[in-house]
Amino acid sequence: MSRYGRIAVVLVAVTVVAATWMIFSRPSQYVEAPAALRAQIAALDPVGKADPIERGRYLALAGDCIGCHQARGGAAFAGGLAVPTVFGTIYSSNITPDRETGIGAWSADDFWRALHEGKGKDGAYLYPAFPFPNYTRITRPDSDAIHAYLMSLPAVKQANTPNTLRFPYSVRPLVAFWRMLYFTEGVYEADPRQDATWNRGAYLASGLGHCVACHSPRNFLGGIARADELSGGRIAVQDWYAPSLTSDREAGLGDWQVEEVVRLLKHGVSDRYAVFGPMAEVVHDSTQHLEEKDLHAMATYLKSLPAKASDDAPAMETTGSMRADLLRRGSQVYAEQCAGCHRSDGEGVTRAYPALARNPSVIMGSTINAIRVVLNGGFPPGTAGNPRPYGMPPFAQKLSDEDVASVLTYVRNSWGNQAPAVAPADVQRYRAVPIE
Ligand code: HEC
Ligand code: HEC
Ligand code: HEC
Repeated sequence: MSRYGRIAVVLVAVTVVAATWMIFSRPSQYVEAPAALRAQIAALDPVGKADPIERGRYLALAGDCIGCHQARGGAAFAGGLAVPTVFGTIYSSNITPDRETGIGAWSADDFWRALHEGKGKDGAYLYPAFPFPNYTRITRPDSDAIHAYLMSLPAVKQANTPNTLRFPYSVRPLVAFWRMLYFTEGVYEADPRQDATWNRGAYLASGLGHCVACHSPRNFLGGIARADELSGGRIAVQDWYAPSLTSDREAGLGDWQVEEVVRLLKHGVSDRYAVFGPMAEVVHDSTQHLEEKDLHAMATYLKSLPAKASDDAPAMETTGSMRADLLRRGSQVYAEQCAGCHRSDGEGVTRAYPALARNPSVIMGSTINAIRVVLNGGFPPGTAGNPRPYGMPPFAQKLSDEDVASVLTYVRNSWGNQAPAVAPADVQRYRAVPIE
């Protein structure tokens, strides 16, 4: 669709939404959680009433602020990291206490307005590449603690890099339309039908953790429909697939034990699996630093979410004889190149080499991640619990498109796995994608 076509669609959509809202909006049906539940949730807060700066440090880790606000080789929180979007590149801001180039002149109120309302100090709309649609759920005391922590850090003088968004996305006031469609302002409200652990997990995962930002499909405006949240999504430009975190059995957390998810978020590896790509960074910068009971709360919440069908299917179908050829060749490639680590029974080696048998990353509809791991190789993150992770070498030079398609077709159809074949053309497509 042309740029102007998109603008027209947005304007029409906004008008329709506004009209519907005016007709159907009613007073909120919201039921406040009982005081006892609120007290139980508060008791789960691991940093309790401790020093506000220490508390803010923990919360900033839970929000992975540094994941975006530190450029490679740059100073912590000084920004300048290019955040790619389908509309162009947005650069993260300097959020150190430097008064001129950072947020040193921001009051706790200004800071709260950024997190809660998605607005800068001058009131201008911030772009949703900054995950304020999630951070809006943070409570005021938590926002104040993060502010206090950031203000306690060394000031770094570093001017912000101007964004390079294409027109019309470069026009900030147009974010108003996006906000009408996809942004609901509001602090997380406890759900009285659920227990305290679930609520703590929902607060962290849907707010600071902003898991939704990657694990959901986005439409052509970069918006996420409520109904699609956490059902799995492609990550812009970097081009990885973040699988469903709902209880979906094929692509989600349906068959996982809560403790398995906790171990993965804490150590980067569980007995059977390992995280890779952008999730390795999330574990490295954020989740490994969280207390286990907070990870437990998040995993409990995620596992309770009803399964949502993922819309990401393999791009290519293969015919019967092609499939048989792929399987034959694949079993040979596997024996020569992969079995040394992942073992001939696909069970891997506990905490060193992930199992490929019954591994959701291997059998889910989307084949992007498996293709990219084989082409590019990878390391799980180094964490306190697993400081020197074992890695996987890249096979881009060693294996042809047919070899990679064959070995993955074999892996997707052995040891109880059952999934559609991978076509050589799919492998060729992801060869061209840069690692970052
Ligand atoms: C996914 C990437 C990402 C994460 C994670 C992230 N930010 Fe940002 N942040 C950005 C980008 C990009 C901008 C610039 C937005 C713009 O130009 O409109 C920004 C802007 C801001 C601003 C406004 C600064 C200004 O000068 O206008 C503040 C404040 C901020 N972020 C604080 C935080 C805090 C606190 C956290 C962690 C809780 C955080 N950010 C996590 C990407 C991120
Ligand atoms: C920057 C994007 C990003 C963010 C933010 C993110 N994830 Fe992920 N996540 C991914 C990608 C990509 C994968 C696929 C790679 C892998 O399995 O390691 C993944 C995989 C996972 C897996 C493994 C699932 C499976 O089926 O193999 C879990 C569990 C997970 N993420 C949990 C979370 C939680 C919980 C949060 C929020 C605290 C979160 N993620 C935030 C990108 C992200
Ligand atoms: C030297 C040992 C080694 C070899 C050889 C190896 N792998 Fe891996 N593999 C690993 C490690 C370690 C990981 C975890 C990587 C990460 O977390 O970034 C992994 C991850 C994977 C994954 C992602 C699964 C997950 O949950 O993390 C797939 C798919 C995979 N390998 C397939 C293969 C195939 C196919 C081959 C042969 C072409 C192969 N591997 C060869 C060690 C190896």
